[in-house]
Amino acid sequence: MTEHTFSIIKPDATRRNLTGKVNAVIEDAGLRIVAQRRIKMSRAQAEKFYEVHSERPFFGELVDFMTSAPVVVQVLEGDNAVARYREVMGATNPAQAADGTIRKLFAESVGENSVHGSDSLENAQLEIAQFFSADDIVG
Ligand code: CMP
Repeated sequence: MTEHTFSIIKPDATRRNLTGKVNAVIEDAGLRIVAQRRIKMSRAQAEKFYEVHSERPFFGELVDFMTSAPVVVQVLEGDNAVARYREVMGATNPAQAADGTIRKLFAESVGENSVHGSDSLENAQLEIAQFFSADDIVG
């Protein structure tokens, strides 16, 4: 089934000029970038986006990191896009990520792990709606 998922290219990757290299892995995996914008996330946006993690010990560090430099927010389209992008990203901790995945190729640590991808179709819709309107998505 064709799905949309939400992706963020995180500050560790934008800082190292890796946006194009990350996008090449995404596109080579058969996912289509149907919306994309480079933004500086506000603290309010990051706190809302990561609300489910607000009780975790790393929450403050996560918000600091996500607001530390520009990010690229994206909508990816493809067959089973949610699960497919999670495969393409690799494990959250780059030390456990499979060869060829974005995190194995580029991520620096579990916190500075280069990309975010939605973990379910329901969350994908909520996350996309936080950053894009329907008109922004051009399939
Ligand atoms: P992400 O998929 O964006 O969703 C939650 C994020 O929290 C996760 O990627 C990691 O970047 C971050 N995270 C998870 N575990 C830790 C940790 N132990 N320390 C710092 N950040 C973490």
